Amino acid sequence: MCGIVGILGRGPVAEQLVESLKRLEYRGYDSAGVATLEGDHLERRRAEGKLKNLEARLSGDPLSGHTGIGHTRWATHGKPTESNAHPHATDNVAIVHNGIIENFRELRAELEQNGASFASETDTEVVAHLVESHLKNGYSPQDAVKASLPRLRGAFALAFLFKGHNDLMIGARKGSPLAIGHGDGEMYLGSDAIALAPFTDTITYLEDGDWVVLTRTIGVIYDSNGAVAHRETLKSGASSFLVDRANYRHFMAKEIHEQTEVVGQTLARYVDMTAKRIALPFELPFDFNDIGRISITACGTASYAGHVAKYWFERLARMPVEIDVASELRYREAPLRKGDLAIVISQSGETADTLAALRYAKAQGLHTVSVVNVPTSTIARESETVLPTLAGPEIGVASTKAFTCQLMVMAALAIAAGKERGELSDIDEMKFVGELIEVPRLIAAALAIEPQIEKLALDIAKSSAVLYLGRGTSFPLALEGALKLKEISYIHAEGYAAGELKHGPIALIDESMPVVVIAPYDRVFEKTVSNMQEVAARGGNIILMTDATGASEATVDSLATIVLPDMASTFTPMVYAIPVQLLAYHTAVVMGTDVDQPRNLAKSVTVE
Ligand code: M6R
Repeated sequence: MCGIVGILGRGPVAEQLVESLKRLEYRGYDSAGVATLEGDHLERRRAEGKLKNLEARLSGDPLSGHTGIGHTRWATHGKPTESNAHPHATDNVAIVHNGIIENFRELRAELEQNGASFASETDTEVVAHLVESHLKNGYSPQDAVKASLPRLRGAFALAFLFKGHNDLMIGARKGSPLAIGHGDGEMYLGSDAIALAPFTDTITYLEDGDWVVLTRTIGVIYDSNGAVAHRETLKSGASSFLVDRANYRHFMAKEIHEQTEVVGQTLARYVDMTAKRIALPFELPFDFNDIGRISITACGTASYAGHVAKYWFERLARMPVEIDVASELRYREAPLRKGDLAIVISQSGETADTLAALRYAKAQGLHTVSVVNVPTSTIARESETVLPTLAGPEIGVASTKAFTCQLMVMAALAIAAGKERGELSDIDEMKFVGELIEVPRLIAAALAIEPQIEKLALDIAKSSAVLYLGRGTSFPLALEGALKLKEISYIHAEGYAAGELKHGPIALIDESMPVVVIAPYDRVFEKTVSNMQEVAARGGNIILMTDATGASEATVDSLATIVLPDMASTFTPMVYAIPVQLLAYHTAVVMGTDVDQPRNLAKSVTVE
C-alpha cells in the first residue's frame, strides 16, 4: 500500500510533505520519509514507525529544499526498518513507491551484476537503480524513466526526484492510484486528492499506464505507448481540514457513535421517506429482470456487508447471488455471464483486490455497480454505476460506520430488485422501506447499551480466544464481530454459522471460552438456542445479543445478555453491528492496543 506525495514548491516543502503524509497515514504507518533537493544534493530523512518519529527527525535535522517527495509505508518487502523506509535513492535519483514490483528479484540480480549496490531489502530500490543505470548511460531523466517503466511488472505509483533538476518531478502509475495537483506556480503529486487538499483542489487523475513529467508550471502526461495524453482536470471537493476526533478518545469511538447520523443520511439518499418507496440516486442502466445472477465481491468488512446482502437479494428479490472475497474471484477464473450484474463494495474504493475483481467482471461483459464511500476513488471512477455510501471520512482502521452504510445501500438495492422483478408488491416495498426508516433510531437505542458492554469487555480482555455464532444474516455479522475483535485487540476470534459449531469448532469450548451469540428473536432463533445449549453443556461462557423477547425465551444461562431494541427481523444486522463493534472497541481499550492504527494493518489495502 503506502502513501506517496511530491511537491514542486515555491518555498521549503518538508513541512508540507509531512502535512500531506498525515493525510495518507491511512495507507500505512510502519515508517515514513522525505527527500528534498538541497541545492545540488539529494537529502533524505527517514524514520521507523509513525510520522511523529519522522517529524522529530526533521526538527533535529531540518531540510530546506523547495522540491521534494514523501512516503508513508506499509511494509511488503523487508521489515519496517529505517533502511527499508522510502525514499530510496541512488547517486542521482530518489523515489517513492506505492505497490509491488513483482519482478524485483530478477531486476535486482541483473542490476547487481552490473555493479549496483543495494541498501535495502525492498522491491522498490530496483526502480531507483534501474533509472540510475540509464542516467549513467547518458539518458535524460525523462528518457531514463521512459526506458525503465516497461521493465517493471506489478502495481505501482511512483514519484521520482532527480539530482541537479530543481524544476522537475516525474510520476507514473500502473495499478496504484496517483493524482496531479495544480497549484499557483507549484505542482504536486499524491496518492489521492485528500493528501493534496491543503494545497490545491484542482486535480488530474492519471489513468493506468500513464506517466507525467512535471515542472512548476506544466504537467505533460504520456500514456503507456508514450503518446501525449489529455486527462480531465477536476475540482476534487476533498476537505483541506484533517478530520478530528472531537471529544472522543479514538476515531473508532467517534465513528461508531456517528452511525445514527450517517446511516440516516445514506437512507435519505436511497428512499423517499414520505412515500416509503425506494428512490435510488441514479437510474440503473439495466433491468433486474434481465439479470440471471448477481456476483458480489469485496474484502474484509465490506465482504461481510456483501454476505448479508446475499441473504437479502435471495429473499426479497429471489435472485441467485454469489459472494466472493475479491482476492479469490479473479484467480479461480469464475465463469461470469455477460449481461449479469457484478456489485463491488469498498469503503476506500482503492482496494487492489476489489479493483481487480471489478475489472475482471467488466472484461467479462457484466454490468458493474460499486458501493463506495470515496466517490473520487478508482473503483468509483471505473464502475458503470456508483452507489455512494454517505459515511463521511472513516479514519479508524477498523471499519464501522462504512459497514452499516454499505448495509443500508445494499438493503435499498435488494428491495429495488425485488420490486422490479415483481417479487415485492407496493405494500411490501412500503413495509420494508418503513423498516429501513426505523434503523437510525434503533441504532441510537443500541448505542445506549455501551456502559454494559464496557464492563463486559473487562472479561473478554482476559480471554485468549472468542467464538462468535449466528444464523441467517447474523452469520456474516458473527464473522464481522470476530474480524473486528482480532484486528484491534489481537485476541484470536472466529465467527461461525451457529449450525456449524457441532461439526468441529465445538471441540474448542471449555470454561475459558467466551461465545458471543448473535440471535435476534427471528425465525431461526430457536435453532440458535439449541446451539447455545450445546455450548452451555460444555461450560462455554455465553454472551447473548438479542432483543427483549429473545432474552425471555432463551432458556440458557449466559454470562451476559445484551438486550437490543425490538425490531422487524429483516434488517437486524444494521443494529446488531453496534454491540459487536462496541465489544471489540472496549476490549481493545482494556488491552491498551493502538485502536485506530492497529499493528500490521492499513486503512486502504492497495496491494494484492
Ligand atoms: O476499503 P475497503 O472497504 O475496500 O477495505 C476492505 C477491507 O480491507 C477492510 O474492510 C478491512 O477488513 C477493515 N480493516 C476491517 O475493519
